[in-house]
Amino acid sequence: MTRGPAREDAELDPSLELDSSPFRPDLLEGRVALVTGGGTGIGRGISLWLAAHGADLVLASRNRDHLEPAAQEIRALGRRALVRPMDVRDPDRVATVVREAAHEMEGLHIVVNNAAGNFLTRAEELSPNGWRAVVEIVLDGTFHVCRSAFEPLRDSGGGAVVNITTTYVHTGAAFMAHSGAAKAGVLNLTRSLAAEWGRHGIRVNAVAPGLVAGTEGARRLVESVGRLAEFEAGVPLGRLAAPADVARAVLFLASPAGAHISGAHLVVDGGESVGGKFGGHEDA
Ligand code: HXC
Repeated sequence: MTRGPAREDAELDPSLELDSSPFRPDLLEGRVALVTGGGTGIGRGISLWLAAHGADLVLASRNRDHLEPAAQEIRALGRRALVRPMDVRDPDRVATVVREAAHEMEGLHIVVNNAAGNFLTRAEELSPNGWRAVVEIVLDGTFHVCRSAFEPLRDSGGGAVVNITTTYVHTGAAFMAHSGAAKAGVLNLTRSLAAEWGRHGIRVNAVAPGLVAGTEGARRLVESVGRLAEFEAGVPLGRLAAPADVARAVLFLASPAGAHISGAHLVVDGGESVGGKFGGHEDA
């Protein structure tokens, strides 16, 4: 098994825990993965984990400047990385990017719908345009990407879609009515596509992170409504998720490790959503 010549010299971000992966490094050898929002935060973690296990990457998001540094990191791992500016709200642009990327990379096997939009707001103060912006990015965008990816996934011999949702899809969450409703829609879409596309060898699953440390979303939440320690105290495993935790779950579902799993919703929150606030912490 080889990872490409540059791998030995690559400087890995230690916080991504790539050097302690429980998976074989060639798990995704020969696979091509598209990750929306793949340059920053959770998306960057997912992209690098897929690349470190053999995949070539297509990174797509609105801002090319967000993508280039991650693409460089992927190339340093000895993998190919295409950068494609794209707003997931624009179905024509999405169709063009997906078609051309699959052609250039000679296939498409994995799609991760990670691009999202969110801001904290009281529902009664949320403008129709603010509602639309978030729902169009999260729900419409996921649909546009899935729809465009169907043919290349099928024609590449089958594949895996992983949609990033959130733990509040079932509960709702204050100040996140737009995001919660859109992500709940993504979960339902995940299951409908799993039902339709299984016969084409395409598995469709979702990963639901809790609050993920070090991301823009976490920074905003903590700034607005609380201290980090309070959020951590509500997690039975005692810490927030890291991008690496989410990436490991995505890799599992996208790889042969998840071979017979479709329509699943894998929660990655350290037990927060079942533990309840301060559950399990005697000193809380
Ligand atoms: C109230 C807001 C707002 C805010 C935008 N709007 N930000 N309203 N509070 N903080 C309103 C605007 O006033 C406008 O409505 C409408 O939303 C569209 O705003 P635009 O800036 O014109 O839209 P756009 O440029 O398309 O930006 C989309 C966005 C933006 C979602 C609003 O935040 C974005 O692009 N985010 C992408 C990155 C992101 O959000 N990542 C976090 C994901 S984290 P009006 O009526 O004035 O025209 C996550 C989990 C973490 O999902 C949860 C914690 C937050």
